[in-house]
Amino acid sequence: MRVVILESPEAVTQFAADEVCTLLKQRSSNKFGAVLGLATGGTPLGLYRELIARNARREISFANVETFNLDEYIGVPPDSAQSYHYYMHENLFKHIDIDISMTHVPVTFGVDLQHSAADFELKIEQSGGIDLQILGIGVDAHIGFNEIGSSLGSRTRVKTLTQRTRNDNARYFGSIDDVPHTALTMGIQTILESQSILLLATGTGKAKAIRDTVEGPITASVPASALQLHPNVTLAIDRDAASGLSNADYFLAAERNRAVASRSS
Ligand code: PGA
Repeated sequence: MRVVILESPEAVTQFAADEVCTLLKQRSSNKFGAVLGLATGGTPLGLYRELIARNARREISFANVETFNLDEYIGVPPDSAQSYHYYMHENLFKHIDIDISMTHVPVTFGVDLQHSAADFELKIEQSGGIDLQILGIGVDAHIGFNEIGSSLGSRTRVKTLTQRTRNDNARYFGSIDDVPHTALTMGIQTILESQSILLLATGTGKAKAIRDTVEGPITASVPASALQLHPNVTLAIDRDAASGLSNADYFLAAERNRAVASRSS
């Protein structure tokens, strides 16, 4: 795993935006555009603001980009302010030059959920697969809504949310009672099939999850630890999120060496 420890949340945002822009520019002349996996929550908001700004400055275009979101609540209509359909529309899609028919958020309202999950997997396959999956991480190290105990071989399906996740997300709802109990989420195996993965984390609240993900054993009790199995994962984290790592000095040195190697190549 590449662990990039950065000075601040703003530096994490810039790093992530640079990674996305590199991919989009690589693919801009390609008939098949980039396929991006997107996340919701508080962490990627800075990234989306930065992508909107770069798109407005015409540094990048989303005209040829297809997107897949990790998850969506069950029981929340897509036009409700708490849905992830709404979040994506408000925080990214409506501000950029993307073809909205090329954006996919799991459909959970008024549909057969098993059929919807299978259709979502099929659409990812038909796109040629996700080039770069952006991830946040839960305090308990969930990715998407793959809660503790999720099979490392799981695919898109219905998951029950833990009380901890419901509490963490209650800030977006009127009261804890309004937070859904279930969601449709990409599985861990679905995520692992992405070409590359970029996980973002900031703040001391994520320090234990990051330590367990990077330095702990691979276990369904720490869903993000499954990322250790992936050959192309980058964690872009600020110093606070890195504060639990016992090997932080090693990761800082590795990045310095990487910078030296790229300057001399
Ligand atoms: P956050 O959520 O970015 O709001 O901390 C992350 C997650 O639960 O995956």
